[in-house]
Amino acid sequence: MSNLYPGIIRKYRQYLPVAEASIVTLHEGNTPLFESVRLAKHYKLPIKLYFKLEGLNPTGSFKDRGMTYAVSKAHEARSQAVICASTGNTSAAAAAYAARMGMKAIVVVPQGKIALGKLSQAQIHGAQVFQVKGNFDQALEVVKELAENPKVTLVNSINPHRLMGQESAAFEIVESLGDAPDFHFIPVGNAGNITAYWRGFNRLHQEGKCKSLPKMCGFQAAGAAPIVLGHPVKNPDTVASAIRIGNPANWQSALDVARDSDGFIAAVDDEEILSAYRAVAQLDGYFCEPASAASIAGVLKMAKQGFFQKGQIVTCTLTGHGLKDPDIAIQQSPPPVVIEPKGAALLEHLKL
Ligand code: F0G
Repeated sequence: MSNLYPGIIRKYRQYLPVAEASIVTLHEGNTPLFESVRLAKHYKLPIKLYFKLEGLNPTGSFKDRGMTYAVSKAHEARSQAVICASTGNTSAAAAAYAARMGMKAIVVVPQGKIALGKLSQAQIHGAQVFQVKGNFDQALEVVKELAENPKVTLVNSINPHRLMGQESAAFEIVESLGDAPDFHFIPVGNAGNITAYWRGFNRLHQEGKCKSLPKMCGFQAAGAAPIVLGHPVKNPDTVASAIRIGNPANWQSALDVARDSDGFIAAVDDEEILSAYRAVAQLDGYFCEPASAASIAGVLKMAKQGFFQKGQIVTCTLTGHGLKDPDIAIQQSPPPVVIEPKGAALLEHLKL
């Protein structure tokens, strides 16, 4: 028998039913839960802080967990194509899974507003890429108009199969820790992922596989924080392009999760996001994308307010890989120094 890790559909077969012939996997999931050492020490955090490294999925974000199941179910339903609106990661995942299944992918992204790495992924996997003259919320309205067509399946997080697949990240956290954490911190855009994690934790709790449930703490970017403000944001703006969303599809469910888990949805500004983005890269050696750092920024903000008690277990989803958005990394770092090709020239610049 093969010991190959089979991907989340085969691993969690009882929760993700689909015809065997329709399963499409890139062996997503099984991502590490990684303990923060130097960042936690630097900020004198009283907690045990773990990062769920979702950027280590095959297309570099958590979207793969939802996409493996959504594309498999679309194939089972004899759909010919998958379609989505995206701030980048959903389109990269949809394009890759559709390629692997031999289906078409149609992606609609806000023009000039998605990270280059993500656009390149959708393109190289052969998706038909459309750039809408508008923002993500408008792109979502466009694709929803096509969703009635039986030949295409909408694979945004309003597709329930997406969220069922994404529950698997919560299963893995419980497996890694042996129980649920005290708090789970997560960035919020369209609010699908926070919904999926909460459902995942609850499912295991009902089955007796974890004794407790975490308080769910979701973070939006301050310039794109409709849930926090209580009204849609017409022109959302943040450096964290993945969560530049003004009218989230799963808005109500995010509020329900916050209420039911005794958690909250709050905002962090771009400065806080970028500071956390640099800190995790420079102190813990992990490169995540800016939107992912919103969850770390949230932890740091709450720690400053004395929110945590000593020894509490906090998990934090780092949703996407930093290489997707190299422009921001370069902007946030000192420029390389140009030198003559001589050791002495290099030495001049070093403080050894
Ligand atoms: N982090 C990253 C890196 C994302 O790409 C997204 C969403 C989120 C967080 C927020 O997750 O929407 O479930 O609340 N990206 C979507 C996309 C919108 O099109 O790739 P959410």
